[in-house]
Amino acid sequence: MATRTTRKFRGRPALAFFARVARQGWDADHFTFTCRYAALRKWLALQVPLPKTMLTIGCGTGELEKILERQGHTVVSLDLSLPMIRAAKERYQLGALVQADAHVLPFASASFDVVLLPESLGYLEAEVAFGEAARVLKQRGRLLMTTYPPHLPAHSVYKKRSLPEVATVLRQTGFTLAQHSFLTVTRNAIGEAQIEEEGDLLYVAARKVP
Ligand SMILES: C[S@@+](CC[C@H](N)C(=O)[O-])C[C@H]1O[C@@H](n2cnc3c(N)ncnc32)[C@H](O)[C@@H]1O
Repeated sequence: MATRTTRKFRGRPALAFFARVARQGWDADHFTFTCRYAALRKWLALQVPLPKTMLTIGCGTGELEKILERQGHTVVSLDLSLPMIRAAKERYQLGALVQADAHVLPFASASFDVVLLPESLGYLEAEVAFGEAARVLKQRGRLLMTTYPPHLPAHSVYKKRSLPEVATVLRQTGFTLAQHSFLTVTRNAIGEAQIEEEGDLLYVAARKVP
């Protein structure tokens, strides 16, 4: 979320910020819903009930990925930030951790059943990242994401996107929108708001068009 110390790194924003988070953890001013709320991690894990081959992009320190692994999925956890990857390895001993850029995924085409973007979309060029996700997904594979809607205060370099904006890019990159929710997130429960402006987090599930 918003920080005064963030710098831009030639189109790769906030690497210094992520290195600090990896070292010290999220704090009161800068947090992710996924990292802070176990209820959200549980809710997200429920969106993929059967064991799948999954790629998570922007895994951060790996709290969600640990649950997904426990649930029986084969998970590749990817992040651009080496300190984040190292922190995830130390904290959760995740099975497969990869340091790479979401815009140039180091995987063969049709490798995964599910690609998940947990609160990372705003750091990415959506057209390029969705295009890469489409390439590495198997036929009719699913692309899931949570992201910050426009009204939410967020990290200064995070590009917040509304549902129509996300849906447009999905269509342009070979996906069809399957489901969306404006999630309300509290310590004990995940709810759904009727309108985007009343939600905390936008959840979108899309399917790769055959
Ligand atoms: C807001 S954090 C989310 C971390 C974790 N998923 C969570 O929800 O707690 C965004 C993550 O995206 C990663 N990231 C940013 N740009 C990236 C890129 N181009 N490719 C891969 N990961 C990237 C950052 O290093 C950071 O760990």
